[in-house]
Amino acid sequence: MKRLKLAVLGSGRGSNFQAILKNIQQGKLDARVQIVISNNSKAGILEIARENGIPAMHLSHRQFETPDAFDEKLIAVLKEHDVNLIVLAGYMKLLSPKIIQAYRNRILNIHPALLPAFGGEGMYGLHVHEAVLECGCKVSGVTVHIVDEKYDHGPPVIQKCVPVHDQDTPETLAQRVLKVEHQVFSEALQLFAEDRVSIKGRRVFIQ
Ligand code: GRF
Repeated sequence: MKRLKLAVLGSGRGSNFQAILKNIQQGKLDARVQIVISNNSKAGILEIARENGIPAMHLSHRQFETPDAFDEKLIAVLKEHDVNLIVLAGYMKLLSPKIIQAYRNRILNIHPALLPAFGGEGMYGLHVHEAVLECGCKVSGVTVHIVDEKYDHGPPVIQKCVPVHDQDTPETLAQRVLKVEHQVFSEALQLFAEDRVSIKGRRVFIQ
């Protein structure tokens, strides 16, 4: 396997991206971030990229006449930056089948719950943790999964449990889950860096 050359796509504050950068700097993750792309020009994730001297690009469907024109531009940018794995770190848009096809099994997303529970459209941010608490669940967790054509649907690569406490609010649970996200995303990426991942149907095997 060639060295991991990442594109990180995000729409918000970018704490997962920051954790990935830290893990790279500390030698825990053998990868390089080639470019950060956001659909939101004011996203913190773009700021973090700029502060770290990483190419940062605002790329939104709104800048294009058709969804296809957006896809073509995105693919061109990914190629130009020699990207071989795409990381969705809080990216709020569904990638089109064309992008999924072009990077089949080479796109990872992180979700702040144990999928397939509490996932899908509308399940983002505090909504996820609210739903977990409303269900009375005693555990929640983190899922890093391969991205396919549907929201939060592709097969899990790593899942980690996080306990739910009686006194939790959506905010306190989100905080506990986020800490685990910051470790687990890099762990999953490192498995790809070491070429230890094989995929058969919906099952992801780690050698
Ligand atoms: C994280 O909770 C992640 O699981 C979800 O979006 C959030 C992004 O947070 N997909 P950040 O921008 O990485 O801080």
